[in-house]
This record gives sequence, structure tokens and C-alpha cells, in this order.
Amino acid sequence: MTDAELIELSEEAMKYAYSPYSRFEVGAAILCESGKVYSGCNVENATFGATNCAERTAVFKAVSEGSADFEAIAITSSGGGLTFPCGICRQVLAEFSPQIRVVLKSEDGEISSFTLSELLPHGFALDKQ
Ligand code: THU
Repeated sequence: MTDAELIELSEEAMKYAYSPYSRFEVGAAILCESGKVYSGCNVENATFGATNCAERTAVFKAVSEGSADFEAIAITSSGGGLTFPCGICRQVLAEFSPQIRVVLKSEDGEISSFTLSELLPHGFALDKQ
């Protein structure tokens, strides 16, 4: 799976965004070590606080189906330009795959990627029991 293909899957996922409050649509597609891809969109809520970001939707779908080793995640939004993951999503990604690559597409169509450790240096971690 190329980065461009993963971006396309995130664009596809963005179509399902449930964002009646912000009107900001986000799609994500996460590539597992197995080659499986899970996608997700943002799902807003009238309380605002119960809103789930697209990245976490994709991660939680994957983990809840037995896939928790991630290679890359592509993120797209209706805002155009690079859509970096929010802090909470960075922390959630770090829980499973601190080495994951975050793949983004700029407004002019150029695809670039960042390692999660670039985006979340010195993230919080606990020893697993
Ligand atoms: N959002 C995401 O889906 N991912 C992010 O990393 C940042 C924000 C969503 C949440 C909300 O539905 C909308 O974008 C505006 O914040």
C-alpha cells in the first residue's frame, strides 16, 4: 500500500464524517503491519466533549478487531492543507505504535509524512503490567 493509496482511503472515509456542529470533516486510514487498513471519520456529539476524532475512530476500530500494530496513518480534512492530528490522537497513537508514520497531503497535492516521535516528542508512557 503506497502513501497515496492510504491518503485516498482517508479521503473516502471523510465522506462519512458526522460533523453537523463544526462542519469540519475529517477522514483517517490506518495501515496495520498485517497490511489490513481500517478507516474512520470524526463523529461529533451535541455535548461537544463526546466527539471522537477520525484518527481515534480508526484506531479503536482496529484495536477492537484485534489489530494493534500500526505502520502508518493518513489524515485528510475538508479544511484542505495539512491536517495534523490533535494532541489526544497523538497520545492514543503512541499507546500502540510510537514509530507510526503520519501521512498528510498538502493543498497542492504533495504527500509528506512525519514520524509520531517528531509530532509527540517525550510523550507520556507507563510500563505495561
Ligand atoms: N478532528 C479530528 O477528527 N481529528 C483531529 O485530529 C482534530 C479534530 C475533528 C473533531 C471535530 O469533529 C472537528 O474536527 C473540529 O474540531
